[in-house]
Amino acid sequence: MILSAKTNMEISSFVTNFREDLISYLSNKLKDFDPILKDGVIYAVSKGKRIRPLAVYLSAKTFGGRYEDIRLLAFVVELIHSYSLVHDDLPAMDNDDYRRGELTVHKKYGHAQGILIGDLLLSLAGDIALEYALLGKNQNLAVKEIFKASEQMVEGQFLEFSAEINEKTALLKVYQKKTTALIKSALLSGGVSQGCSEVEKEAISIFGDAVGTLFQITDDFFDLEQDMERGIKTLPVILGKENTQIYMEKLKSQALSSMELLKEKHFLTQYFNLLINRTF
Ligand code: IPE
Ligand code: IPE
Ligand code: MG
Repeated sequence: MILSAKTNMEISSFVTNFREDLISYLSNKLKDFDPILKDGVIYAVSKGKRIRPLAVYLSAKTFGGRYEDIRLLAFVVELIHSYSLVHDDLPAMDNDDYRRGELTVHKKYGHAQGILIGDLLLSLAGDIALEYALLGKNQNLAVKEIFKASEQMVEGQFLEFSAEINEKTALLKVYQKKTTALIKSALLSGGVSQGCSEVEKEAISIFGDAVGTLFQITDDFFDLEQDMERGIKTLPVILGKENTQIYMEKLKSQALSSMELLKEKHFLTQYFNLLINRTF
């Protein structure tokens, strides 16, 4: 694949090109691995909306970065996201048989294999992150953002599995850790990798907190009926639809006003519109 052709990739082609790039990179990296293990890793990353890699890309573009500059960083965040889903679907966690319209990884490859495929996805993320971090100080700091968030994501999942949460503040804390942190870190890492200033970093941080939480609440609305039947406590379940929508409007305003601190607003506006208008 000729990467330079992708420098000014549009969002519509990002998802397709990113998939192709990631799969060919992993196929090569795992060429001497057990074929079933390799197949399992590729299966785990072969679908998805790619909203975290897209966040890295659009945030980097905001500060003049190109796809080639951040592709490894985008791989890292998607690999961490993918491992989290593989483990999240396991019988000891959410016990889901289907994801993205297909069998979950452990249903297709076996339980132990599912755990190990998740482990390998996370190990690959660490390996690629180190390679990227060696490119320079900004790259090193960008990787650090993603791994800090990966740690928080685990804590968020842990909190969710430890006790039932019935109250807004506690639930928002879990959302912040389990979902928002990684999306926000993807945005931060894109900017930091391109040497954005502290003020710009602060703006991205506020933007990331708002859009990351909006992303989770949008997901809650998609699952609302099912969650109510199953007794799963999400924000719309405990606050009601109307109050949740009021809160979402507040988050949207926060995201939009955070961008006032940035000279280039186009790419993050694109990201914002994509997230708030998503239908799946
Ligand atoms: C699903 O994330 C899990 C959450 C954090 C809500 P995505 O909705 O980004 O999953 P894919 O990768 O697009 O399937
Ligand atoms: C997915 O969480 C895993 C992480 C956020 C780490 P959920 O259980 O809320 O999402 P789905 O419904 O499985 O995609
Ligand atoms: Mg789940």
